[in-house]
Amino acid sequence: MTTGTVPELGSIEPNQHGYRDFALGKFSFRRDEYFAHVRWPNGSHMIAVDAFLRAVQRDVAWGFFYGIVNFDAVIGTVNHYGTVDLFAGRFNAQYRQAGLDYSENFKTDVISRLFEAILADWTNAPFDPFAAPEETSGAFGPKNGSNKEAISRHRVTAKRMIGAPGDEPVRTDDNGFPVNRHFTDVPQDAPEVHAEPGFEHEVVSVNLFAYLSRSDVTWNPSVVSVCKNSLYCPTTEEYVLPVIHGNDRVEWFVQLSDEITWEVSDRETGRPRARVTMKAGDVAAMPADIRHQGFSKKRSMLLVWENANPDLPKRYERGELPPYPVEF
Ligand SMILES: [Fe+2]
Repeated sequence: MTTGTVPELGSIEPNQHGYRDFALGKFSFRRDEYFAHVRWPNGSHMIAVDAFLRAVQRDVAWGFFYGIVNFDAVIGTVNHYGTVDLFAGRFNAQYRQAGLDYSENFKTDVISRLFEAILADWTNAPFDPFAAPEETSGAFGPKNGSNKEAISRHRVTAKRMIGAPGDEPVRTDDNGFPVNRHFTDVPQDAPEVHAEPGFEHEVVSVNLFAYLSRSDVTWNPSVVSVCKNSLYCPTTEEYVLPVIHGNDRVEWFVQLSDEITWEVSDRETGRPRARVTMKAGDVAAMPADIRHQGFSKKRSMLLVWENANPDLPKRYERGELPPYPVEF
């Protein structure tokens, strides 16, 4: 059942640490100086609040993304594209066996509003949930201001391609995107375009490495080119992916620079399946039946290639497609 009519409930009065409590359906959320506490009818869970805010920030920014966003081994969301399940223990074999899992379905805009309200109230002024740990501080302690600028960044979603006329602009010093400290060696030159007469406004070329070297966020795929259902979603990664992504389709990864180690587990149970270390130039297809979390020792560039075909989750569920994309 979709709980579409229940508004998010935030307490008017803050708790003794200065933070408001929130509730949606039968879930409730409370934070103290170190932890987010999540409760549901037959259980409760606590998550370090910096990790919790980083996860909620990704879920909000990605519009719940493709498939499952696990905040950790217990809490997370499933995107049904119009509605979203908020769950506890749903993809944890032990919670399932013990009958302790719980899930509720909400209209997407309702759960978005809840998560946005939590982010706004629980993010302190010095904390940026999108930033690498070395580039931020201050998630902990009693309530200390807010950071609206950090949590409401513009989401890059090109209609055709970044740099194209009327589309998402490229990043420059002047529009507020200096080169990141880990990418000072990335050439900043731009490609030369020699278009045939009459095609001057249709041929576009950008330096994607320069574009990514100026990303001010981590683990946040942005759509830089679109061709029908084929979306190029590159991103810069540093430290740990703040969520464990459960795929509902195959995702291709192209490691553009440096190195990321991926822990790959079964999507339903969390049972470990593989550790994949990707170095610059490596290409991998993440199967449709796994969850994965990345670890990046220094800021690196990753191209995530998504197939946005809305029929895919049902076709994998029905077993029409194998969970991997190629047979060798
Ligand atoms: Fe993924």
